[in-house]
Amino acid sequence: MDIGSQTVINKPKVLLTRALPQQGMTLLEQNFELEVNPADEVMPRVRIIDSIADKQGLVCLLTDNIDSRVINRASSLRIIANYAVGFNNIDVAAATSKGIPVTNTPEVLTETTADLVMALLLSVARRIVEADNYLRSGRFKGWAPGLLLGSDVHGKILGVIGMGRIGQAVARRAQGFDLKIIYHDTKRLPVHVERKYGVVFVGFEALLTDSDFVSIHAPLNKETYHLISTNELAKMKNTAFLINAARGPIIDEHALVRTLKIGEIAGCALDVYENEPAVASALLRMPNVVLVPHIGSASIEARTRMALMVVDNLVAVLQNNVRPPNVVNPEIYK
Ligand code: GLV
Ligand code: GLV
Repeated sequence: MDIGSQTVINKPKVLLTRALPQQGMTLLEQNFELEVNPADEVMPRVRIIDSIADKQGLVCLLTDNIDSRVINRASSLRIIANYAVGFNNIDVAAATSKGIPVTNTPEVLTETTADLVMALLLSVARRIVEADNYLRSGRFKGWAPGLLLGSDVHGKILGVIGMGRIGQAVARRAQGFDLKIIYHDTKRLPVHVERKYGVVFVGFEALLTDSDFVSIHAPLNKETYHLISTNELAKMKNTAFLINAARGPIIDEHALVRTLKIGEIAGCALDVYENEPAVASALLRMPNVVLVPHIGSASIEARTRMALMVVDNLVAVLQNNVRPPNVVNPEIYK
């Protein structure tokens, strides 16, 4: 054994439930003794529970359910670093009660996710996916006055539910498309910020009744679970579109299917689903629905930035013994 392997022995042990982009892996390998899920699929829960026992660090994904059972098993654990901005997959209260910081990856995916939201909005309004399928299937016989008529975007009203970082990034883009922007949130933005983004605060009901596009940018928690269900959908205009790139369970997916079936809204564009990776099968048959597989942050650049942020958080806690930059339960440091 040489001196190099001596240092290996002292490296903190970290479990990765799935490999991250290479730049992140390289840094992680330099700093930690890694155990990485060898398969390119969700790590089975029993394996996480088995592997966590002797680890100081956990890097997990939004597809991992890190509940109190996992956390209680992790007697040496000093940090849970989620490779996502949303952290509804982690029992944060259980981590907090054991003094374990939970970290996420905010900001580095905000603009990337907002780009996708605009892609969804434009696609559903202008029937891009339908039109692409139409052409590929050989049905295009030349320009026609009534071919694939969609809905204008400019001049319409966009209702943003949740005006956090991503909501604001969407609002900035929407201004460029000449949308009028209204929003609802649990708290109102400072007036100078509202002016900067050209957004108007309204009540939840007014947002539903007045918007031509409703886009959700709220975290999933007890308050937002099924925030959009039958009654809320019924309040929307028949010509309105619903967009969700936040978390699936914020929408009652069965209610959405029923609403679309009776034509009470014009269509929807979804990046997230109530029971991922399952999708209500009726949605798959509806042409006025755009469906993408949870790719909000899926750019090479964003996923690399997220990986580097995970590394920063692990290094802070496991090497430098300091508070990690992106802690979501800062109360453990009080
Ligand atoms: C993706 O959905 C994330 O929360 O980062
Ligand atoms: C998420 O990053 C948000 O605050 O919108």
